[in-house]
Amino acid sequence: MKKSKQSISTKISRVGLKPSTNFGIPNPPVYHASTILYPNSKSQRNRNTQYQYGRIATPTSETFCQSIADLYNADGSIVTSSGLAAAVTGILAFVKNGSHFLVTDSAYGSTRNFISKFLPTIGVEIEFYNPKVKPIDFQKLIRHNTSLVYFESPGSLTFELQDLPGLTKVTKNNNIISITDNTWATVLGQNPLDLGVDAVIESYTKYVTGHSDVMMGGVIARGKSYDKIKSQAELMGQCTSPDDIYLALRGLRTMEIRLEKSFSSSIKIANWIANFPFIKNVFHPAIKYHPDHKIYKRDFNIGAGLFSFEIDMVDQKRVDKFIDSLKLFGIGASWGGFESLVLQADLKKIRQFNSFNKSTLIRLGIGLEDPDDLIEDLNNAFKKLK
Ligand SMILES: Cc1ncc(COP(=O)(O)O)c(C=O)c1O
Repeated sequence: MKKSKQSISTKISRVGLKPSTNFGIPNPPVYHASTILYPNSKSQRNRNTQYQYGRIATPTSETFCQSIADLYNADGSIVTSSGLAAAVTGILAFVKNGSHFLVTDSAYGSTRNFISKFLPTIGVEIEFYNPKVKPIDFQKLIRHNTSLVYFESPGSLTFELQDLPGLTKVTKNNNIISITDNTWATVLGQNPLDLGVDAVIESYTKYVTGHSDVMMGGVIARGKSYDKIKSQAELMGQCTSPDDIYLALRGLRTMEIRLEKSFSSSIKIANWIANFPFIKNVFHPAIKYHPDHKIYKRDFNIGAGLFSFEIDMVDQKRVDKFIDSLKLFGIGASWGGFESLVLQADLKKIRQFNSFNKSTLIRLGIGLEDPDDLIEDLNNAFKKLK
C-alpha cells in the first residue's frame, strides 16, 4: 500500500476538496439523487455509467467514502445509516451458516445484541472471548470453521485495550478475517489496518460529525475484504442521506481540534477523579496506571474523551443523586459531541466476563466545556455520594 507523506492533520483538513471542478468553491456540492438518468438505452442495459442509482453511490457519497479511505490508507470505504449498521454489514460479509465467530466480550452493547440475537438464527456459532486474552491463549479458541473475529479496542464501557498486532498474527496465520470497531480512537488515534486488522467499522455519529445531530457509520478496508463489504452493503440496501454525509465531511475538517480538546480535558478530569477515596478504578487507557497503557503508548497517537470510573459501592439512591445533581453533564447515550455526557453502565446482563457486580460503573463523555468547570460540577455532585 502506497502511503502519502503528508501528515494526517494536513490530509484531514483537505480531503474531498475539488475547487477546480466546482467553480472555485472548496467544499463539494451536495447531490440529492434517487434517479440518475442514462444517456441511452445501451448504457442502461450495460450499466456502464459512473453512477446508476442514488442508493448505490452519488458524487457526494463517493467523495466522503474516498476521503475516509484516503485517511486510513485503505482501498475503499462504505457509508451506512448508523455505526450499528456498519458493524452489521461488516460482520454479515464474513459469516455464513456453519461459521464460528469469535467476538470480544467488551463489544458495544447493540453490536453484541445483533450478534447474540440474530446470528444464531442463520446458523452462525458465536463465542465471546475475554478481551484480556493473550495471543497464545487466543490461538486455542480458533476452530476449523472460525471465519471471523471481532475486536473493539478499547472495549465499550470498560476500556480494555487489545493487542491487535499480536492477535492479528493469529488470525492471519489461520486465514481468518478480523474486524475492529475503531470509533473511540478514530483514524487520528490509531489505524487498525496498519496493525493487521482487515476491516474497520466506525460510528461517525460520534467524533466525525461531532455535534450530536447525525446518525451515520462506515466500514473501511483493503483489497478483497473491501470488495466483499461493498457488495454486502449493496445487498443490504445500505445508504445514507447526502445532507448527513456533507455534515460528516465538514466534521472531519475540525475533528482533530475537537478530539484534542475533549481528550486533554478527559485526562485532567480522569486524574482528578482518581484521587477520590471511594473511587476504586478509573478506566482511561491513556492514563499511566491503566493496565493496558503500554499498548496505548505503542499503538495510539491520541485517545478520546470517553472513559469510565468504578465506585466502590452499590447504592442506587446515592448514585442517582450524584448523577441528577450534575449540572454540566447531560444524562444520555452517545458521545463525541460538543457536550459532556454521563451514564451509569449495568454490565450484569451484557457481559460474560464481568467483575463489576460489587461496584458501580459510571461512564463520562467529555465535551468541549472548560475542564475546570466540569471538575467543579463533579466535585459538587460527588458530595452526594458520601
Ligand atoms: C463503540 C461504539 N461502536 C458503535 C456504536 C454504534 O454507533 P451508532 O450509535 O451510530 O449506531 C456506538 C454507539 O454508541 C459505540 O459507542
